[in-house]
Amino acid sequence: MKVLVTGASGLIGTALIASLNADGQEAIPLRRQRLEAATPVWDPEQGIINLGGVSDITAVVHLAGENIARGRWSRRQKTRILNSRIRGTGLLADYCAGLDHKPDVILSASAVGFYGDRGEASLTETSSSGEGFLPEVCRQWEGATATAAAAGIRVVNLRLGAVLSTSDGVLKQMLLPFRMGLGGTIGSGRQYMSWVHIDDVVAMIRFIIDHDSLRGPVNLVAPQAVSNRRFIQTLGRLLRRPTLLRLPAWAVRLAFGEMGTALLLASTRALPGKLCDSGYRFLHPELDAALTQLLKPVSTQSST
Ligand SMILES: NC(=O)c1ccc[n+]([C@@H]2O[C@H](COP(=O)([O-])OP(=O)(O)OC[C@H]3O[C@@H](n4cnc5c(N)ncnc54)[C@H](OP(=O)(O)O)[C@@H]3O)[C@@H](O)[C@H]2O)c1
Repeated sequence: MKVLVTGASGLIGTALIASLNADGQEAIPLRRQRLEAATPVWDPEQGIINLGGVSDITAVVHLAGENIARGRWSRRQKTRILNSRIRGTGLLADYCAGLDHKPDVILSASAVGFYGDRGEASLTETSSSGEGFLPEVCRQWEGATATAAAAGIRVVNLRLGAVLSTSDGVLKQMLLPFRMGLGGTIGSGRQYMSWVHIDDVVAMIRFIIDHDSLRGPVNLVAPQAVSNRRFIQTLGRLLRRPTLLRLPAWAVRLAFGEMGTALLLASTRALPGKLCDSGYRFLHPELDAALTQLLKPVSTQSST
């Protein structure tokens, strides 16, 4: 199996490529910078894609996009976030649709941000989209895969929850303040957080590639979303650090603006409906055990 991976240098791309390579599969990174003469390269801004002679791709896993948590969402940054996804996805979908030998499947990243701020409502793949910038980005991002689906390629939109890893992402950002005893609930603490362990993300992507029945949006989240308070208390307990501080909603808005409201205060309780129905078996279904595994010293961790 040949798997083309965009966003290969990112959190998920790095873990996915390592997993595929470990199993003897051919993982081909499609990067924005050419590292070696013959390696595939693309420039989503300029609409350029050059696979450098690579052909007969079985699956495409499209993860590239401007990081949404890097800095406040100025108008310029919002344009970068949106364009990096719409242009890249459209370019890749058009390219694959035009190939004589089309890939069997394209897995294109999206996010549970599709559903927006929805309180305690349980959200499956059939739930409607929410309001605001992130839901809008996700709708357009998913919509940009349409040409590939119209060309008969199986397309899966990966609605990812917050990916837990100590390499990068939300957990890594929390560890330093927690270790300094500065951990605490955010806003009311009642908002739901849909999380997923990085090992499950990699295993889910590989499961989806292998299961032809899965297409369209698929939620990549653990079976149980947790409240912010529960997440913070669990992390504090495992790190043996206090979590008495509280960051009020107004302070989040002041410090992080719209980004903080969307990423820290919004409540999204997504369920992995399609994956459960398809028989996917979670590696880390419980938050407590997932965090315990992630916080173990590297030398004692087992890889997927
Ligand atoms: N991690 C999460 O918790 C989470 C949650 C929900 C959704 N997602 C989505 O899942 C995808 C992968 O997540 P991730 O955590 O692996 O992301 P990441 O670590 O931020 O990596 C994204 C990769 O995309 C490429 N990239 C960065 N800026 C870009 C730009 N302006 N235009 C085009 N490509 C750009 C880079 O790869 P190259 O330099 O190799 O091109 C980068 O390594 C992202 O689209 C993300 O929004 C992630």
